[in-house]
Amino acid sequence: MNKLRMGIIGVGGIAQQRHIPVFFKLQDKVTITAVHDLNESRAREVAEKNRIPHVFVDDYKEMFHEVDAVTICTPNKFHAEIVIAALEAGKHVLCEKPMAISVEECEAMVEAAKKNDKVLSIAYHYRHKKQAQAAKLAMASGEVGDPLVTRVQALRRRKVPGWGVFTNKELQGGGSLIDYGCHLLDLSLWLLGNPEPVEVMGRTYNRLSKQPNQVNEWGSFDHETFDVDDHVTSYITFENGSSLLFECSWSANIKEDKEHLSISGVNGGIDVFPFELYQAKNGMLLNTQAQTILGEDDAGIPQAQNFIDACLGQAELVVKPEEALKVTKIIEAIYQSSETGRSVRLSK
Ligand SMILES: NC(=O)c1ccc[n+]([C@@H]2O[C@H](COP(=O)([O-])OP(=O)(O)OC[C@H]3O[C@@H](n4cnc5c(N)ncnc54)[C@H](O)[C@@H]3O)[C@@H](O)[C@H]2O)c1
Repeated sequence: MNKLRMGIIGVGGIAQQRHIPVFFKLQDKVTITAVHDLNESRAREVAEKNRIPHVFVDDYKEMFHEVDAVTICTPNKFHAEIVIAALEAGKHVLCEKPMAISVEECEAMVEAAKKNDKVLSIAYHYRHKKQAQAAKLAMASGEVGDPLVTRVQALRRRKVPGWGVFTNKELQGGGSLIDYGCHLLDLSLWLLGNPEPVEVMGRTYNRLSKQPNQVNEWGSFDHETFDVDDHVTSYITFENGSSLLFECSWSANIKEDKEHLSISGVNGGIDVFPFELYQAKNGMLLNTQAQTILGEDDAGIPQAQNFIDACLGQAELVVKPEEALKVTKIIEAIYQSSETGRSVRLSK
């Protein structure tokens, strides 16, 4: 295979802002041959603007004759069905995050990838950010040692996504946690070496966004139909004895947005955004900052590059479907814990 023939299903915001421009930058290895969207005029407009030869509007399965791989950018509810159909048709799949709404769906997706021996990856692009790559190397070097406590804060002050269907529970499966917090959960698990979660306690909130006339920087939304979480806290323990303190929000009453991931280990600690290493040696407390971190600023590029190379059999996949399934296990447990008021045990 010279070039991977790529199809895109759902050509709204993320397809146009990230995937299409990135695939164009990598055109020595990939060519976009087809698009599908339920919104016919959008599908035709995107195809025309980007000179994509095939447009399918009635049934996404029609595109499978024209592609070797597909990128799925529909609302979350449709991820599982479309991913499984593409895998069954013998196509490789890059699916937007979150993998799907439920653990059951994710398990079926993992099975379909195995059964058809095709690549399935999830667009957890935070792993490809330069700081995240530096943090992964620091974790592997032993400078942090066994992790003890991980702290995550993925907080936006007043930025509920007012476009698309982000505030619709039926179509998205949740709000700030499944949409934004999932990135930092995925990144944490990857940096920690994919530990098994044991117990999850969670609380979700949406009182703020249920009030009328919200000041919101990312467009307006209907407070009456808003039925997802806008703020979530959680405490997660792992089989290796470490724990993760988690908080995410689309709309917190705080001074400013904050994206924080720190790991405190037996030998040292790291902050990821921006990268910094904390050590105690030679009678000193040392803080090491990066002057420069080499690599791409746009994490979408290495993400696409790795997916394409994995499809061509030239690289090991960075975001494996079994790992993305674990993120959804924790998300589902947080929602369940909040509903029941009890912690959820995921393993012994
Ligand atoms: N990786 C990231 O950081 C990131 C950022 C934004 C969105 N996303 C994810 O991408 C996905 C799409 O988000 P978006 O912001 O592009 O949304 P969007 O609403 O802008 O676009 C979704 C598109 O899918 C189309 N669509 C809806 N249902 C469909 C179906 N059943 N079949 C085919 N097309 C359908 C819509 O017409 C629309 O054009 C979501 O899963 C979201 O979580 C990821």
